[in-house]
Order: sequence, then C-alpha cells, then structure tokens
Amino acid sequence: MLKELMLDYSRAKLILHEFEERSSTMKLSLKSVKMASFANILTLLKCWIFLSCYVTHLKMVESRIGGFSAHLDIDETTIWDHTVNLDDNFRLLWTIKENYAIFEIQVRTHGYVGLGFSPTGSKEGADVVMGWVDKGQTFFQDRHVSANKNSTEPLVDPSQDYVLLSGYENNTHTIIRFRRKLDTCDNLYDIPITNNTMRILFLYDENDPLNGSVGPGSLPNVDSAWRSAQSLVLIERGVQGSNAEKTRKLEFRNSGVELPYDDDTLIWCKFFKLDKMERKNHVIKFEPIFDSTWSLQYLQYVTLYECAGSGPELEALAHEPGQQCYNMRGMQLSCNTYIATWSRGSPAFIYPPEVGYPLDTSTVKFIMMETHYNNLNIDFEQFKLNHMFDSSGLRLHVTEQLRQNDAGLMSIGIEPNWHHIIPPGQARVVSQGHCIEQCTKSFFPREGVNIFATMTRTHQIGVEVKLRQMRNMQELAPIVSDGNIDPNYQTFRRLPHAARSLPGDRLIAECVYDSTTRRAITLGGPSMKEESCMVFALYYPKQKQLTTCHSSPSLSTVLHSLGIEYLNANSDPVVISLPPELKGMTLETRLLTYDWENQFKAFQDLTLKGAFKAQCQNEESSVSNISSTFISWPANITEVFEAPKLCTMKPPSSTKSEQSDLYVVKDISNNDIVEGSVRNSRSSFSETLALSRSESSSASYIPRLFSNYYYYFGTLLIAYTLVLS
Ligand SMILES: *[C@@H]1O[C@H](CO)[C@@H](O)[C@H](O)[C@H]1NC(C)=O
Ligand SMILES: *[C@@H]1O[C@H](CO)[C@@H](O)[C@H](O)[C@H]1NC(C)=O
Ligand SMILES: *[C@@H]1O[C@H](CO)[C@@H](O)[C@H](O)[C@H]1NC(C)=O
Ligand SMILES: *[C@@H]1O[C@H](CO)[C@@H](O)[C@H](O)[C@H]1NC(C)=O
Ligand SMILES: *[C@@H]1O[C@H](CO)[C@@H](O)[C@H](O)[C@H]1NC(C)=O
Ligand SMILES: *[C@@H]1O[C@H](CO)[C@@H](O)[C@H](O)[C@H]1NC(C)=O
Repeated sequence: MLKELMLDYSRAKLILHEFEERSSTMKLSLKSVKMASFANILTLLKCWIFLSCYVTHLKMVESRIGGFSAHLDIDETTIWDHTVNLDDNFRLLWTIKENYAIFEIQVRTHGYVGLGFSPTGSKEGADVVMGWVDKGQTFFQDRHVSANKNSTEPLVDPSQDYVLLSGYENNTHTIIRFRRKLDTCDNLYDIPITNNTMRILFLYDENDPLNGSVGPGSLPNVDSAWRSAQSLVLIERGVQGSNAEKTRKLEFRNSGVELPYDDDTLIWCKFFKLDKMERKNHVIKFEPIFDSTWSLQYLQYVTLYECAGSGPELEALAHEPGQQCYNMRGMQLSCNTYIATWSRGSPAFIYPPEVGYPLDTSTVKFIMMETHYNNLNIDFEQFKLNHMFDSSGLRLHVTEQLRQNDAGLMSIGIEPNWHHIIPPGQARVVSQGHCIEQCTKSFFPREGVNIFATMTRTHQIGVEVKLRQMRNMQELAPIVSDGNIDPNYQTFRRLPHAARSLPGDRLIAECVYDSTTRRAITLGGPSMKEESCMVFALYYPKQKQLTTCHSSPSLSTVLHSLGIEYLNANSDPVVISLPPELKGMTLETRLLTYDWENQFKAFQDLTLKGAFKAQCQNEESSVSNISSTFISWPANITEVFEAPKLCTMKPPSSTKSEQSDLYVVKDISNNDIVEGSVRNSRSSFSETLALSRSESSSASYIPRLFSNYYYYFGTLLIAYTLVLS
C-alpha cells in the first residue's frame, strides 16, 4: 500500500510512503562439497606418490581438474557482511574475521580480474591481487604495481600473501574468492587493511593472459583494464538481515534552492512540521535524496535537527521555503538535537538491529534541515550562466516496531570559528577539540553511553582523524582512528564493537591537516574554504542534555601561539601593544606575516598545551546561548595509548637478508622461478616452494616449510583413511 500525505505547510514535500522492506540476506551460491569424494582420495593417494599436487590442495586452492572440485577450508557458513558494486560489472563482497579478510569478486567477464589497495588511490605502489580462469584452471597471484616504473602492469610479488579459496566461471561471470591477513607483514608490496579509509582499485579485461603466463608484459590491455579508484571503509560491522521491520519513508526536501555560482558555501536552513504520529517511531535507516545527477556536485552536507518547542515563530518558518542559516542568528530558536547527518560520498546509513533513533511527535513537532551547498568543481563554470535550483534532501526510514535502544547523535570537536588556526605550508598540523570531564560527568547517564557508529568531518585538507578517550589520566584505545581521510568519503561507520564512554571521561577529537598546498592560513568555520574538526558519534541510550560537546582555543591561547602578549583593546582596529617589537601591528597583519616556516613548532606546542573554552550544548540552548562554558586545559595523560604491533611474527634479524633476496628475485622476475610462484594447479611442488611462503613465516624457511607439508600430508592421509574405513 502506498499512502502519500502532502503536507502543504511549507511547499515542502514531506512525503510519507508506506511500504515494506525485507531483509535481503546474501545467499551464497557456492556449491559445497562437504566431504571428499572417493575420486578425491584416489587423487590424493596419487599425489602422495608424485608429490606435485599437494601444495595446491594444502593451500586450499580449489581447482577443477578432471571435472571435480575440491573445497577445503571454505567456511560454507560464511555470510558476507558487506557487498558493494564497484561498477556495473564488478561486485565486491567481504567479511572480516579476526585478523583475516575474506573477499569474493564477481566480475562480468571471462578474462582476468583484479582488486587492489593503494595509499592514495593512484596505481603506483598499489597492492594488487589478480586471477583468471582459463580452461577450467584458476590462476591467482599476489602482485603489486611498481612505485617508480612507468608501467601500470601489476607484477608478481616475491611473497605470495593472498590465499585462493575458490575460482570459477559461469556463463557470464568470473568469481574468485580469497583471503588474506589484515596485515600480511609484507611491507614491501602489500598494504595492510586497517581502520583507515581504504582506496580500492579494480581492473578487468575480457582476455586471459596466454597459456597462464605471469611474466611482465603478459597481461593484455592492462592500461584500459584499470577502472577508477573508490574509497571504502572495510573494517565495519555488517548489518545484513538487520532491516526486517515494516517501515515508512519520511522525506525532507528543499524546495528549489538557487545554487551558489562562486566557490562560496551556501548554508540553507529549512523548517518542517512533522505530521502527527500515533506513537513513538524509530528511524532505522537514512539516505540522501538527490534532486538530479548534478546534485552530487553541489551537495556537501545535509543535517536534520529536532527543534525544541512549538511557538508561532516555528509555525511561521515551516510555511517558508527556508533561508540562509546565517540570517537566523538573531532568532531564539533551539534546534540543536541532531537526528541525522549526511556527507558527500556516503551511501545510506543502516542502524544496527538493536538500536533506532526515536521520533516522537508528542515531544518534537518541528524539524530543521541544514543543507551545505558548494561548488568545488571547476568544470561546473559553465553552469554559472544558467540558474540552477536544487531540491535535494534526506529520507528517513521509520518503523513503529521499536527496537531495544534509543539512539542519540552528538558532535565532538572544535567549535568552528577563527580561533582554530591552521598555518600554511605544513605537512602535519594537529588540532584538538575536547569534550571535557565536567560535560560528560553532568550529562552522561551513570552507566555511560555506547558509541556504535562515528563519522569524521574535516573539510578539504584533513588527513587523519581520531576520537581519543581518557579515563583517570589514562588513555584508552581510540573509539575511531582513521589515518587516511578522504574528504569526499566521510561516512558513518558502524564500529565492530560499541565503545563505552562513562561520565567523567574526556573525549578528544584530534584532526591532522596537510596544508602544504595552502599559501595562506586556514581558519575554522563552516564553509568548505575554512576547516573543521568534528566527530559525530551515534550512541545509545539517548540523553538529551548533551548534543554538542566542543571546545575552542581561548583568545589568550591564540594570542600566545602567535607570540602576542598584550592587545590594546581600546584601539580600532585592535593593535598589539606587547611585545615591543610587534607594537602597533594589527592582529590581521600578524596572522598574515607570521613566520610559519621557522616558528611553526612553537605555535603547534602552544596551541596543544594552551587553555580552551569548553562548550557543552544541550537541546534547550539557543544558538546565542550556550548553556555551559568552561575554561579548561588539555588533560594530563600519564598513560598514552599505544596500538599493539601486529607484525611480531617476522624475526627482525632476517629482515635485511630477506629484503636483499627479494630484490634479487625482482630483478630476474621474468624467469621461471616467478612463474612457479603462481598458485595454479599446474605448478609443481618444487616450483611453488621456491617462492610461496606460509603466511606467518618468510621465504627463507624452505626446509621448515617442507617438513610442515610432510607433516600435513601424513595427517591428511590418516584422516582420509579414517573416513574411508
Ligand atoms: C619512463 O619514461 C621516461 C620517459 O617517458 C623514460 O625516459 C624512462 O626511461 C622510463 N623509465 C622506465 C623505468 O621505463
Ligand atoms: C554467475 O555468477 C554471478 C555471481 O554469483 C551471478 O550474479 C550470475 O547471475 C551468474 N550467471 C549465471 C548465468 O548463472
Ligand atoms: C580498528 O579499531 C578497533 C577499535 O579501536 C580496534 O579494536 C581494532 O584493533 C582496529 N583494527 C585494526 C586492524 O587496526
Ligand atoms: C600456448 O600453448 C600452446 C599449446 O601448449 C602452444 O601451441 C602455443 O604456442 C603457446 N603459446 C604461447 C604464446 O606460448
Ligand atoms: C540561556 O538558557 C538558559 C537555560 O538553559 C536560561 O536559563 C537562560 O535564561 C538563557 N539565557 C539567555 C540570555 O537567553
Ligand atoms: C596538569 O599537571 C600540571 C602540573 O603537573 C598542573 O599544573 C595542571 O593543573 C594539571 N592539569 C590538569 C587539567 O589536571
């Protein structure tokens, strides 16, 4: 049934659809072979004599030899936690299990396919895994693109760290499933999978390399096989099957906002009156509504807020098409409670099954939507000539089937104003926004809040964001830590495990900026030319007191960090009175002429150690009335959190000789040895041993490897004999 209610309060389209949404659990198409067939065992016995096919079996390579397939160690209960279509022909599915990632790529081609990771999104230096199916044989290799050669062809790695689990073709697709360690510890050619925003590369072509060859130059059409890079967060909680409730859609859309034609940010506020709901509802999913395909070029952020109260002022605003938020500063409005926020590049956000955001029209009647439009795309110059209007917005999926917990959304970070200064020409500027102990102590419930998803928000030059957590002068593991921010992909990520934050904890949003491209200083502010440092945290149970927990460097900290001791407050414009060498200079001149090159370090130290104004804002505070402002200082952390090292398996002493070995191999990389490193069912035992290595040890352990295999063969043989009898 589809019910549409046009609310004509505000020429707004607040549309309520009724519809059903059912879970779309991925069903795996993998045909499983539970137990080895008799033929399998015979083959194993033959192999025992000729040795040549053991390695492939033991490395869990499924290959089709003579019409049967062996599935070893394929977890048939694997349900993919995540599915993404990288383009119309390339689907990526993955699941993270402990310290492994299991992937499947399904590509509409019968040629070769590949998936890659790269630090920046460029092909140079990428870690690539490639495979193809040729005459029933699966070929599969761990490769890399050289960082300093001209060619974009992925070359086979000396260290093979990806494990093929299955590979086959159907009438239309090539399907390859494999796994790898999150950190393979191959620091030469592999890129660790971390909590960072990963840059995913992918490639495919309709041809296979001839005769299974893997040497340089063997991949046909490699330049055109590459597709455009995409950003993804791989380590995230999956939500397959968690969206089974019957839902309705609530749409909040702008009504024809004229877009800005220069590079300024237009911040638009529009009000909606909610249609009365019978009872409390839960928002369990939200997603952007794009007016047209152009919208994505202009739409930066869309945020929904609850407004407290229901006065005539709100009633009047809800009749209007909206206005620039800037104009509303004088009004005594209290629209501070975040409902949802979206950033460019984000897909829909789906709540985990135990939690939903509560919407209750008996307490909240008005909603404000804040939309940030800006045109950062130079190609859009031509559109300046035409008048363009946009009616994009946000769609909430709500249900009456209430979930166990009520979610809340709060913002932690630096209050966006000019006190937040980012010097130009620096590769690493650190800024911190504090949510201080007093705020969490007075406003968090006694049992604390559980943060289950976060979204970081910096504008154009942010490179790293962390949400750090302090308890009793001790630093706990960060709630989120992303060391490779993509400004165009800052999405809510569901944390693998909710992080508990207690009253009295301090939360610090720490942002690192790379300002090497900037000639002038960058100040904090809401527009994209300015910068911000915020982390949005979705948590439960919802508390009403704290919606914004920000800080802002105090004026004295700002002045000290610029080497200023006293300002003459009676002058206009304000000029510096001390130290003597700066006497008479305006603040602006000081900002413009500061010697960042030589004095950056002093500036950075003073800003990180200086006092700041802490601001805890609650649902009742209006824009001009911050409920609590404290002067506070950075915490004295006695125990700083250090991330555990993942690559302890590698004996440090062997690193040097290993590396030189690897370089030798690289230089002769078109000889037979590298051919042999390819894990296809044809490679002989000795060839494979020559270069492949077990996942935790290194290539230099050939004798040990051999004895391991020997041991495994024996065990397997005994196992199969037992099954037979
Ligand atoms: C890369 O290309 C440049 C010119 O395009 C050439 O001079 C150089 O030799 C090439 N380097 C390699 C490693 O092929
Ligand atoms: C081939 O496999 C892909 C991926 O599993 C699937 O989407 C497609 O429908 C299959 N094609 C045929 C013809 O079975
Ligand atoms: C990702 O972050 C979580 C939470 O901080 C942490 O437990 C986990 O070890 C991190 N994983 C990796 C691979 O860094
Ligand atoms: C591929 O193998 C076939 C048969 O084994 C052979 O005739 C052909 O010459 C080979 N092609 C190349 C390019 O090696
Ligand atoms: C600010 O808000 C508080 C309630 O949080 C109220 O008591 C106070 O009068 C307000 N101040 C102004 C100037 O509006
Ligand atoms: C940190 O320690 C210094 C001295 O060690 C002290 O003066 C300062 O007040 C402390 N700051 C806080 C926030 O506890």
